[in-house]
Amino acid sequence: MSPRRPLQRTLLTASLACAMAVFSAGTSLAAAAPAVTARPWMNAALSPDQRADALVKAMTQDEKFRLLRAEYGAIFNGQPKPAGSKDAAGYIPAMPRLGLPAIHETDAGQGVARPAAFGDGDTALPAGLAAAASFDPQLAHDGGAMIGRQAHRMGFSVLLAGGVDLARDPRNGRNFEYAGEDPLLAGTVVGAAIAGIQSQHVVSTVKHYAMNDLETARNTLSANIDHTAARESDLLAFEIAIADGQPGSVMCSYNRVNSVYACEDDWLLNQVLKRDWKYPGFVMSDWGAVHSAAKAAMAGLDQQSAGERFDKEVYFDKPLREAVAKGEVPQSRIDDMVHRIVRAFFAVGAFEHPAKEAPIDYAADAKVSQRAAEAGVVLLRNESNALPLGKGVGAVAVIGSHADVGVTTGGGSSAVKPRGGSPVTGIEPTTWPGPKMYQRSSPMQAIGRRNGGKVAYASGEDIAAAAKLAAQSKVAVVFAEQWVAESMDVPTMSLPGNQDALIAAVAKANPHTIVVLETNGPVKMPWLDQVQGVVEAWYPGANGGEAIARVLFGEVEPSGRLPLTWPKDESQLPRPTIPGAGLAAIGIPPQGEPQQDIDYNIEGADVGYRWFQKKNLQPLFPFGYGLGYTTFRYGAPVLHTSGGQVTATVRVSNTGKRAGLAVPQLYVTPPGADTRRLAGWQRVTLAPGQSREVTITASPVRLASWDPSANGWQRKAGSYRFELGASATDIAGHADTTLPAARCTLTACTP
Ligand code: BGC
Repeated sequence: MSPRRPLQRTLLTASLACAMAVFSAGTSLAAAAPAVTARPWMNAALSPDQRADALVKAMTQDEKFRLLRAEYGAIFNGQPKPAGSKDAAGYIPAMPRLGLPAIHETDAGQGVARPAAFGDGDTALPAGLAAAASFDPQLAHDGGAMIGRQAHRMGFSVLLAGGVDLARDPRNGRNFEYAGEDPLLAGTVVGAAIAGIQSQHVVSTVKHYAMNDLETARNTLSANIDHTAARESDLLAFEIAIADGQPGSVMCSYNRVNSVYACEDDWLLNQVLKRDWKYPGFVMSDWGAVHSAAKAAMAGLDQQSAGERFDKEVYFDKPLREAVAKGEVPQSRIDDMVHRIVRAFFAVGAFEHPAKEAPIDYAADAKVSQRAAEAGVVLLRNESNALPLGKGVGAVAVIGSHADVGVTTGGGSSAVKPRGGSPVTGIEPTTWPGPKMYQRSSPMQAIGRRNGGKVAYASGEDIAAAAKLAAQSKVAVVFAEQWVAESMDVPTMSLPGNQDALIAAVAKANPHTIVVLETNGPVKMPWLDQVQGVVEAWYPGANGGEAIARVLFGEVEPSGRLPLTWPKDESQLPRPTIPGAGLAAIGIPPQGEPQQDIDYNIEGADVGYRWFQKKNLQPLFPFGYGLGYTTFRYGAPVLHTSGGQVTATVRVSNTGKRAGLAVPQLYVTPPGADTRRLAGWQRVTLAPGQSREVTITASPVRLASWDPSANGWQRKAGSYRFELGASATDIAGHADTTLPAARCTLTACTP
């Protein structure tokens, strides 16, 4: 399997479906024929662009302007929600004259989240980092299809999903919504999730475009980065996710980039996205990210979100109409904005298959989430083969993090209320970006179901009591959590509260101590040498307790690999202190913090493992790292070049006693470069003693660099080093090859 090119078939299927069906739902082809004549845009045999053209032609100026702004769809500060809205992030009323259904938008990438405490809850996928850790685009697609289906069956036509900002800092409060530090991995996994969502006739966003890599002062900070470095890092992740997933919408971010607000940045929106990437969809703003009418519209923003609640003005109503009247914005631009918006809905088949309430199989959907959680768990440490636990393990002490009743989630707009509500309530913050919630899946009960119920729980608040329980048990499993949320970063990489002391005390009381982390990513582990096992479960979603227990007991092999570098501490980061740290960032924007500058040129495109290599730093655990319950041996890669495409063949052997899943990774160092880049990977299941030859295709764009003078990807002539590794630092072998100069796209290089 090549990690690129996943799953384009979903959109193909959607357009075939369009071609066969004619609006509206439940209407037969013959019965709908007159409607098609009167409304040519309802003719599914036409392309999305032809349909959009026909529709724009038929619209009045007021109808067009009604599509250029979404209202906030929920109750806000005691003010009622708009009539007809679904109590979620965005709403545009239906236009019956034209046959346009209402547009209902809801967050987010881990499932249907609704800001108001509303309904019975929905099914949460594990964190985006878990999806990335699986290195499995198919699983990400399955997860996307599951949450897309739920959204559709709740009547939502837009899912504000597709978070793909790179993890430049483990303290970023939204890392859990994203897919790690590598542009190829993040773009591929998020692109697959978007394609999954849109396979359900729901428009997905990709967000937050761009460089929204920290939350502190996010509404005003300027992320300063050289254009070339941006193209080769964060923007590349977006470019890949957009090419693979074809999201109907791109959400521009709150922050400024090189001092220009992202939602009025001509370079980001017009030049990179729409001109260079030929993006045909629409740009919607983040909620409170618009600062102008004509400037934003002319820079490429197509739709303002919830301006009446979060911006100074609803710029895309009266002020934009005035700008058109004054000739500052041509009518053709307004028509282009509308075209892009409606095109997105035609492209996913939303007219043929309008979102409407329908029954949801929550039990089946929770299993989809569970599979994703299991595949994302990363085994970081396993001394003396402490794991897997056997059925006859004896008494297990489960300690901390409310693991008696549930698993941790992150906060903010993406938080999915669990089915049946959070089993723990009242923990601060109880309001935005809270409430702090737990998914209703008890690790303690899941463990008990596997060891004859010999399990007991200590909350960990009383460290001595927890240590006492550990001492009386055969094994202690300590659950350590780190709650983070949109709109805030965490000040340090330390686990909050007394958890470090708790783990150290438990490990002292019982040498057979396993730590299960439910974190936003890397945390400091001062107790690492004192515990036998460490498992990173991220925020594991709706069936997280079951998923964790299955991994601990070896019912599934741990096969997740780190989608980001695990630093020892903050001193190894490009910015040991977060610029503006100390500024209160909690609150709904606009927050009015002073402007901050973040210098991303420090690491530029050398994000994560490339920074560590460049600076010769040893992380605690490298990118791509993860243990299994068996061991693998990798041979040296053998390279084949054909038609400008490089593939590597490698022999992978299972040298252990259990079946397992290897994730051989191919890294490339282009001539003159001082850091390697992930160029591809494979996932391969092997029985004990089994060997297999595996082929990995190198992503063409990872061999190239951005050439500003040619405004394109250029592969230099020279010698390329290809390395095969179990992680970004555990390199098993390499092979060099000389390649001619070539111009490249994401998918091919032509000399
Ligand atoms: C977040 C977006 C989200 C939007 C709507 C914003 O605060 O940054 O990710 O989609 O709210 O809820």
